[in-house]
Amino acid sequence: MYKKAVIVGIFILSLTFTGAAFGAGSANIVLKGGHFGDIHFPHKLHQDTLKNCKLCHKMFPMKKGAIEDLIAKKTLKKKEVMKNCEKCHRADKAKGVKTGPTSCRGCHKK
Ligand code: HEC
Ligand code: HEC
Ligand code: HEC
Repeated sequence: MYKKAVIVGIFILSLTFTGAAFGAGSANIVLKGGHFGDIHFPHKLHQDTLKNCKLCHKMFPMKKGAIEDLIAKKTLKKKEVMKNCEKCHRADKAKGVKTGPTSCRGCHKK
C-alpha cells in the first residue's frame, strides 16, 4: 500500500516536471546579455500576461538556447530579440499600461 502511494506520488511529480520542461517552458529564464550582463527573464509572467507565444517565438523556436544557436548561425542578429522586447515595453509605456523595463539596467544585471 505504502509502496504504491510512493510510486503514484513519483509519477505525479515527474508529470509536473516534464510539463515544466517540455510544455510551457521554464518559469524564469536567464538569457546571455554579453558583456552587459545577463537578463533575468520572467517567462511565465509573459505567457500569462500576453497569452500569445508567437509575440516572441515567431523569432526563435521553443527550445532552450535557441537564441544563442540562431545568433551563432547568423540567421538572427545580435540584439534583434532585445529590440523586440524593448519595442513592446516602449509601446506599453507610451499607452501608460503596466509593462517591463525600457532602460538597459532594468533588464541587464551585473
Ligand atoms: C515575451 C517573450 C516570450 C513569450 C510570449 C513566450 N516565450 Fe517561450 N521563451 C522565450 C525565451 C526568451 C526563451 C528562451 C530561449 C533561449 O533559451 O534561447 C523561451 C523558451 C521557451 C521554451 C524552451 C524551454 C525553456 O524554458 O527554455 C519553451 C518550451 C517555451 N518557451 C514555450 C512557450 C510557450 C508555450 C509560450 C506561449 C504560451 C511562450 N513560450 C511564450 C520568450 C517567450
Ligand atoms: C527589455 C529588456 C532589455 C533592455 C531594456 C535592454 N536589453 Fe540588451 N539584451 C536583452 C536581451 C534579451 C538580450 C539577448 C538577446 C539578443 O541579443 O537579442 C540582450 C543583448 C544585449 C547585448 C549582447 C549583444 C551581443 O553583443 O551579443 C548587449 C551588449 C546589450 N544587450 C546591451 C544593451 C544596452 C546598452 C541597453 C540599453 C541601451 C540594453 N541592452 C537594453 C534585453 C534588453
Ligand atoms: C508583446 C509585449 C512584450 C514583449 C515582447 C516582452 N515583454 Fe517584458 N513585459 C511585458 C509586460 C506587459 C510586462 C508586465 C507584466 C506584469 O507585470 O503584469 C513585462 C514585464 C517584464 C519584466 C519585469 C517583470 C517584473 O517582475 O516586474 C521584465 C524583466 C521583462 N518584461 C523582460 C522582457 C524581456 C527580456 C523580453 C524579451 C525576451 C520581454 N520582456 C518581451 C510585455 C512584453
